[in-house]
Amino acid sequence: MPRTRTYLMCPPRHFTVEYAINPWMDPSVAVDGGLALKQWEQLRDALTDLGHTVHTLDPEPGLPDMVFAANGAFSVDGVVYGARFRHPQRAPEAAFHRAFYAGGAWDFREPHHVNEGEGDFAYLPGAYGGLILAGYGFRTEPAAHAEAQDVLGRPVVSLHLVDASYYHLDTALAALDDANVVYYPEAFSPASQRVLRQLFPDAVLADRADAEAFGLNLVGDGRHVVLNTEATGMAGKLRAAGYEPVPVELGELKRGGGSVKCAVAELRA
Ligand code: ARG
Repeated sequence: MPRTRTYLMCPPRHFTVEYAINPWMDPSVAVDGGLALKQWEQLRDALTDLGHTVHTLDPEPGLPDMVFAANGAFSVDGVVYGARFRHPQRAPEAAFHRAFYAGGAWDFREPHHVNEGEGDFAYLPGAYGGLILAGYGFRTEPAAHAEAQDVLGRPVVSLHLVDASYYHLDTALAALDDANVVYYPEAFSPASQRVLRQLFPDAVLADRADAEAFGLNLVGDGRHVVLNTEATGMAGKLRAAGYEPVPVELGELKRGGGSVKCAVAELRA
């Protein structure tokens, strides 16, 4: 069943690809800013049409990746573990997210270790009493997984990402509802694949084509699954598993190496 959520998004008014910090980014190909904004608005409208609340963060000139709001923090039950970006180009984004939480009734915790928020952390409130999954290998440091566990008081399971194209956890795995996930096994080390099989025997499994279409980078509410239109194979697998796919065109954001989930941070009060 769907559960109403609250999200934070940041419009891509200053979105460009002017540096390359993941294999999808090519600064020599121009981005259509107007199209990016239009597609982002359609994503926001798809979420509000499903009954969810979307808050927005003002984008800052000079921070072209700020549209990827998922990377700015990770919240669980009113406690917010702040982000600390791996690359200097994105480092200033963290302060704008911190200021957003400071304006509300959140218990914000400053991080000591490099971590990219919901890019590398996922929360499943209904799995094992409340479980955090955390990725490492490209961006977030394993030390941040232990720090998140201390700050948030939930068990954190560390998962090793091994394919540079799937550099954040949210490019290779997504929560579909409170207790189940979809993931692309080959993005993880053999040991982490084993851990995922043990924890989620009923997971939906994605293939390489699903991952390449950014089909894992989705936002689910327990019933609806918002994912980009290119991910047709993923949509079919999710429908077969009992979920309702909601396709949204998000081709311009893919030039930055992100899609639906990257653009959406969940606010868990
Ligand atoms: N260009 C951004 C970066 O490399 C994309 C971030 C995508 N965000 C995500 N949650 N996967 O950092």
